[in-house]
Amino acid sequence: MKAFALPEVLNRLHREHADFARLLDLLDRQLALFDRGAADYDTVSAILQYCAEYPDAVHHPKEDLIYRVLRSRDPQLAAEVGDLEDDHRRLGELTRELASLIERALAEEMVDREEVHGLTRDFIRRYRHHIAREELHVFPAARQVLSEQDWAAIDKELDSGDDPLFGEAVADYFRDLRDDIDELAALAGGD
Ligand SMILES: [Fe+2]
Ligand SMILES: [Fe+2]
Repeated sequence: MKAFALPEVLNRLHREHADFARLLDLLDRQLALFDRGAADYDTVSAILQYCAEYPDAVHHPKEDLIYRVLRSRDPQLAAEVGDLEDDHRRLGELTRELASLIERALAEEMVDREEVHGLTRDFIRRYRHHIAREELHVFPAARQVLSEQDWAAIDKELDSGDDPLFGEAVADYFRDLRDDIDELAALAGGD
């Protein structure tokens, strides 16, 4: 392990994982409500919209960039931690699939409740597993292999788009979602 400080890009990705974990907790709560016939589809839809707008469009491409450098430096280690780009593609597909199912439910079309439950549960499980894999395997491998110059080049190349939900300026259309997340976090913290 190299002795330099944690690269800023990894700091940021790590903070974003903590934010996504709170989002997944809210989705988990909606799944429990769904099983009692009381889910709020607008909330679920907003969660999925955010996943498409930020994790899929900004967060995952940053990780892909790190992964590609790791693969070019140490293909064997990259293979051991798994194909991150493929994982991101699959998560993106799952997001779109679930979003379209929820849109149909919002439009009051007939949807299979088992399918909604199963896909939502899979989505939560796979996202959490994905984040854990990055934290436990991919990021440590990248820290081990990438040089300070690599991180500086990555930092330079990255455009850090603003997070419309957890960033300083919350987009109007995510205001309610942000309130729900903060409320759930306050409940969990016993406030
Ligand atoms: Fe990722
Ligand atoms: Fe990530």
